[in-house]
Amino acid sequence: MPADIDFEALFAAAAAIQPRAYAPYSRFKVGAALLADDGAIHAGCNVENAAYPVGSCAEAGAIAAMIAAGGKAIRAVLVFGEGAELVTPCGACRQRIREFAAPETPIAIADPDGIRARFTLEELLPASFGPANLPR
Ligand code: THU
Repeated sequence: MPADIDFEALFAAAAAIQPRAYAPYSRFKVGAALLADDGAIHAGCNVENAAYPVGSCAEAGAIAAMIAAGGKAIRAVLVFGEGAELVTPCGACRQRIREFAAPETPIAIADPDGIRARFTLEELLPASFGPANLPR
């Protein structure tokens, strides 16, 4: 894992936003924080909907915040949730991250006790399809 990435700051941002999640249906609140190429940290939380498939994940919110702020690339991700199992990004969110991140980009998984696991994007989404696959 890159030594220059401040995972404690990512943890603080994700932990702060997780309680604000709107998750009345699953009651499973998630926070996500990402470090952008310009050094800014952006956070998001899941926002569910009575029409269930319309809900959005915490990672999607964090990515939207990064793009809205002018960030171009993701240098690191931290996902914060609770429960016995690791709250790893869903398949769709792995692809969302893939759009803006390199294979070696770290993705840390945390709960209120701290970081529980660290992966690279390549580990979570091997042999992935991305922008370079499309003709220009
Ligand atoms: N969820 C996230 O926001 N991110 C993840 O990494 C895993 C799942 C949300 C989606 C849904 O609102 C709730 O958690 C239960 O699946």
